[in-house]
Amino acid sequence: MIKSFISIKKFSKEPYSAILGYPKFTKRQINARILELENLNIKSISFTGPTTIGKLEILGKGYVGVVVLAKKGNKKVALKIRRLDSQRNEMKSEAKLLKLVNTINVGPKLFDYSKNFVVMEYLEGEKIGKWIESIQGPGSVKKLKTTIKSVLEDCFRLDQIGFDHGELSSISKHVIVGDKKSSLIDFESSSTKRRVSNVTSITQAIFIGSGIGKKVQRLYKIPPKEKIIDTLRAYKQEQSRDSFENLLKILKL
Ligand SMILES: Nc1ncnc2c1ncn2[C@@H]1O[C@H](COP(=O)(O)OP(=O)(O)O)[C@@H](O)[C@H]1O
Ligand SMILES: [Mg+2]
Repeated sequence: MIKSFISIKKFSKEPYSAILGYPKFTKRQINARILELENLNIKSISFTGPTTIGKLEILGKGYVGVVVLAKKGNKKVALKIRRLDSQRNEMKSEAKLLKLVNTINVGPKLFDYSKNFVVMEYLEGEKIGKWIESIQGPGSVKKLKTTIKSVLEDCFRLDQIGFDHGELSSISKHVIVGDKKSSLIDFESSSTKRRVSNVTSITQAIFIGSGIGKKVQRLYKIPPKEKIIDTLRAYKQEQSRDSFENLLKILKL
């Protein structure tokens, strides 16, 4: 159920202040953040989503941010709010990384950012870890394959530009699967200076790891681990379209 949107004017007071200043805040910090939101043209926030803070439903929570559904002007957006206990002291770096991956059509679209906020495309859907638990019935293998293939294609494009996501080994939290499209999220730990391992990390997480891998194997017969590992090794040596296509073939995608 989509709850109504609450004007940010109300966010200086409980219980809403707890969202802007999670997990602990001063009045001054909250007032500064409300001003920051006004400058970003964020008018209101809606409490909906699979996670909660206190009694308020939110889209998600990590170690860096709390993510809520918001309105920028009249448009629905996802708002990532920097946690006050976060290791990061600004959101600009993450926004820049997101902007970069957007140029190759990866990740939610970046709309705006400020010191403590990232305003981005709201992705409707479920995290892949949960989604995969619930798929069943006719068409599920096809949908699974399409989803994995599109995620791998995103990873390949990231590899091509030398951009490493950094957290794809824990895939279950970093892919949102929607009705029409699937998207990688959370580029907070990404880097353009490391050796890239997007395709290899995600393939290992999906086909070799224990969590999602088990479910995938139940849905369709994948080749033996050794074969996947060999193919990945070849891809690692030469990250070309050809070796990527070969991987897709081996994985029956
Ligand atoms: N654009 C988005 N649309 C919808 N939900 C999102 C979006 N971005 C993040 N989320 C949700 O919020 C959670 C936390 O976001 P994430 O970027 O992973 O934060 P952190 O950097 O703190 O780990 C995600 O796991 C996801 O459930
Ligand atoms: Mg995260």
